Amino acid sequence: MPKINNPISFLRGPKIKNRFMLAPLTNCQSHEDGILSEEEYHWLTMRAKGGFGLVMTCATHVQAVGQGFPGQLGIFSDDHIEGLTKLARGINEEGSISILQLHHAGKKTLADLIGEIPVSPSGDKKTGARALSHEEVILLIEDFVEGAVRAEKAGFHGVELHGAHGYMICQFLSAKTNSREDEFGGSFHNRASVLFRIIDGIRERCGDDFIVGVRLSPEGVVKLEESIALAKQLMMEEKIDFLDMSLWDVFKEPLEEAFQGQTLMSYFTRLNRKNVKLGVAGKIRTPAEVEAIMQENVDWIMLGRAAILHHDFPNRFFQKKEFRPVENPVSREHLESEGVSKKFITYLESWPGFVGQ
Ligand SMILES: Cc1cc2nc3c(=O)[nH]c(=O)nc-3n(C[C@H](O)[C@H](O)[C@H](O)COP(=O)(O)O)c2cc1C
Repeated sequence: MPKINNPISFLRGPKIKNRFMLAPLTNCQSHEDGILSEEEYHWLTMRAKGGFGLVMTCATHVQAVGQGFPGQLGIFSDDHIEGLTKLARGINEEGSISILQLHHAGKKTLADLIGEIPVSPSGDKKTGARALSHEEVILLIEDFVEGAVRAEKAGFHGVELHGAHGYMICQFLSAKTNSREDEFGGSFHNRASVLFRIIDGIRERCGDDFIVGVRLSPEGVVKLEESIALAKQLMMEEKIDFLDMSLWDVFKEPLEEAFQGQTLMSYFTRLNRKNVKLGVAGKIRTPAEVEAIMQENVDWIMLGRAAILHHDFPNRFFQKKEFRPVENPVSREHLESEGVSKKFITYLESWPGFVGQ
């Protein structure tokens, strides 16, 4: 089994110094037009300084209408490239690999935020979203690819496609949210075709060394059986470099009764992954948990909340194994000392039990 401090290489791109990756974390710190702010720059480069082998940005939206959060980082216009160039350089200069997460919220947004009716693969009464036309789906694919091209221009080593948590790509994948009758709906193959076309487009338009990853969350919106089939296909084709399984809790069992009796994670770690690297995220909080999950046939691990609490979790881990992270709820002062701005703290207050008085 590889150790957390062993370097790792993806199929493409430079070697990564260790197997600690910073999870994509929405932080609402950017400017209203999606342009990078000093706060977002400081928050992410501090994690690169703190020893993460790979630093991933928050979900970054590829169309204006795809914005899901106020203060979200954008990549839907060339105007974003200048700020993103500074960000990629800042991460890379610390010896960390920079990956930008490409995102579209689809119907998981508010008309008030985007100033128009949200869009989705199919119309949805509950949210008021309207169905995308066929031409708009083609444009959506193109805008994801264009986002990757901009990320490469800005100097990022690669991108991750946000196919998790019920956002646009996930809305296409799921039969619950996709009842289209064209080539993008119906069979699982058709529902997944938006994702595969985006990957093909990026491979055509970006350089040979450009890293592409995919994030999936395997249950809830998408059925577990289909998530496993999708993971298999993504790994067998080797067009992507890594698969990032967002499990919310790496120790949990599946929700679907028929699959219980083993961890959700194990359905993915036991698949033949060829040369695609597999990582997991979800409630990895202590050095002991880091070591335990590295024994589970994963190539790398991702820290989300633990990395908000300690920007230098990896450095502390390597220096002192008995490092004991602080526990939630934590004070605003602690968060500020870890490079979390007031805007981000306000967002974190919507996560139960995270911030104390
Ligand atoms: C504040 C916050 C913001 C998040 N933003 C994103 C995001 O932008 N994109 C994404 O794919 N996941 C996002 N997630 C999920 C995390 O990447 C991660 O998978 C999840 O928090 C579980 O890992 P953890 O227990 O180490 O935090 C977010 C989670 C939190 C707590």
